[in-house]
Amino acid sequence: MSDGTVLYEKRDGGVAWVTLNRPDVLNAINMRMRDELWELMHAVRDDPDVRVVVFKGAGERAFSAGADITEFGTAPSIAEARRARRERDLWGLMLSLDEVLIAAVHGYALGAGVELPMCCDIRIASTDATFGLPEVSLGYIPSAGGTQTLPRHVPPGLALQMILTGDPIDSSRALASGLVQKVVPRERLYAEAEEMADAIAARSAAATRLTKRAIVDGAELSLESGLALESVLVRRALETASLPR
Ligand code: COA
Repeated sequence: MSDGTVLYEKRDGGVAWVTLNRPDVLNAINMRMRDELWELMHAVRDDPDVRVVVFKGAGERAFSAGADITEFGTAPSIAEARRARRERDLWGLMLSLDEVLIAAVHGYALGAGVELPMCCDIRIASTDATFGLPEVSLGYIPSAGGTQTLPRHVPPGLALQMILTGDPIDSSRALASGLVQKVVPRERLYAEAEEMADAIAARSAAATRLTKRAIVDGAELSLESGLALESVLVRRALETASLPR
């Protein structure tokens, strides 16, 4: 996908990089980019060599300024738009992957440009990053999972404030609230993401996969059910004692 809206690079050691590649429009996510990401996430899921995926945005100004507003209202009908979203549920697919997803975020991360990172497991930001969900101020509602994912990352009051006002927060607030896990100078962003990705990819594949399932799936369960899930996964880890993929 070298001339696409998304660039894909598989590196040694089980790490792949996905670059949102429409820098002239601040990497706005249009239907073509969604479709290319949809195909790519299937390829990642089916590729045993890929263990960790890092997402980044091309250009200096943005990870992504969100859904492509020039496409708003261009679907043949509301029913058609809903059907397309249901059949190609990119965000649900990302949330279901066993691979570890890391977002390396710089500049603007707005709308789907912050909802995509929230479908990742770990978010690293550069100091210049700003995060916002402007949909309600535009008369829409977040539709890439934001109403559900944001309150799972930050306190509900802050999620409501961000979504209802549309006001963005800066990287230090994002770090303090738990939206991102690390903030680094811009020039260090990709090196930090690479170091983290390499470190995770160097761990046992099965242990990583099972641990991710325990944490991600367990977060939706009661403590009791989560502990039961952990027991099942521990047994599975012991059964694959040599821990192949
Ligand atoms: N969809 C489509 N194009 C977008 C876009 C988006 N979400 N965000 C930015 N662009 C385009 C602009 O139209 C402009 O294109 P042009 O050079 O052909 O005119 C280019 O990206 C640069 O953006 P610009 O608005 O000139 O930069 P800025 O520094 O003045 O403002 C933002 C930056 C992010 C504040 C502003 O672009 C913006 O508000 N974008 C929309 C954010 C948004 O509402 N996202 C959708 C959420 S549902």
